Amino acid sequence: MMRAMSATSPKVIAIDGPAASGKSTVAKELAHRLKVTFISTGSMYRAVTWWVLESGVTPSDTEGVVELLESTEIRCGQENQIGTVAIGSSEVLGPEQLSATAVNDHVSTVAAIPEVRARLVAEQRRYAQESGIVMEGRDIGSVVFPDTPYKFFITASEEVRQARREAQGIMDKISERDQKDKSRKASPLVIPEDAIVIDTSELGIEQVVQRVLEEIEKIS
Ligand code: DC
Repeated sequence: MMRAMSATSPKVIAIDGPAASGKSTVAKELAHRLKVTFISTGSMYRAVTWWVLESGVTPSDTEGVVELLESTEIRCGQENQIGTVAIGSSEVLGPEQLSATAVNDHVSTVAAIPEVRARLVAEQRRYAQESGIVMEGRDIGSVVFPDTPYKFFITASEEVRQARREAQGIMDKISERDQKDKSRKASPLVIPEDAIVIDTSELGIEQVVQRVLEEIEKIS
């Protein structure tokens, strides 16, 4: 059994990877076992995208999005050690809003805007000042916490990832999203040089979690 993190234990475990790679499930389970907070940064970009759509701003209208955000409060918190986001006049958003098809379709466009990223990265770093965290996303090891020694890149073949989304009953053009996430100028999806890469195509969640825990023990 893995112990909960102590004051001398790692503060930030960074988990990056493409859409539907299993990183979110793994990160959540890991945080639970380590008794630290789980943060999905994808949810933060999704929340902003939801608000952009809700406000009637076109996601590709960069100036419009930036202007909207200047007058929008983004409230990032946590409930039961899981990150939450509320934005503008909304309550804490749930899967119905965050995984809506329209949000899936536009989130990569909104996430490519540097001002959006700067605003959310500041919130992401704030979490680490409050508690130990497992944070998952696309640029956590490369940009948000480049100094953490605990960097993992979770991936899987495109076929497996598409099949996972379909099994969840979620409409999500993941290869299109990956392409946009990899090719954008601001903080593209990259494998950090010092990250441990785990391909989950043929592994179950428990195997991946065990592997990550072993690596954390080795580094600690
Ligand atoms: O992890 P996810 O599929 O919920 O992420 C949704 C989108 O948010 C993803 O396609 C790109 C963007 N994203 C990002 O640009 N940077 C992050 N750290 C996390 C997500």
